[in-house]
Amino acid sequence: MAVRTVIRMGHPVLRRVAETVARFGTPELRALVDDLWDTMHASGGIGIAAPQIAVARRVVVFGLGGRADKAGCGRPAPIPPTVLVNPVIEPLADTMAEGWEACLSVPGLRGVVPRHTRIRYSGFDADGNRIDRVVEDYHARVVQHECDHLDGVLYPSRIRDMSTFGFDEELDVEF
Ligand code: NI
Repeated sequence: MAVRTVIRMGHPVLRRVAETVARFGTPELRALVDDLWDTMHASGGIGIAAPQIAVARRVVVFGLGGRADKAGCGRPAPIPPTVLVNPVIEPLADTMAEGWEACLSVPGLRGVVPRHTRIRYSGFDADGNRIDRVVEDYHARVVQHECDHLDGVLYPSRIRDMSTFGFDEELDVEF
């Protein structure tokens, strides 16, 4: 377990299509997932994808509320802590909504990105157990952002109005 270096926009691994994971429950996959959680928590992110620590595999983790919620303390997290391997996303609504996004690989910046408001996502946890959920709004946005990383897509390339793209400290917006 370790906090890994988060690579930033411009690094070639962030533009690659990541490889499908073939074997579940292996020490390598568990170590990768542990490193993703450690790195995400150390960086204060809501999600992170394996390519962001320079591992080109189809693995993301995300959650809002932290791992503590998994143990049943406190209120349920708005987004449950989730490990998602080989994810597939199916949009369930024609509606797209614009919303602010940021990314650990694009530090200090934010922009407004259109995303599907309702999706089904499926995939597997690190042990190969099937995950299948229908989610909306912010949860759907986070999953779409993280899964984009597996196809070499960073959110700035999805921004429609580039006047929304800028540094946190300069944008005149409350988050
Ligand atoms: Ni990101």
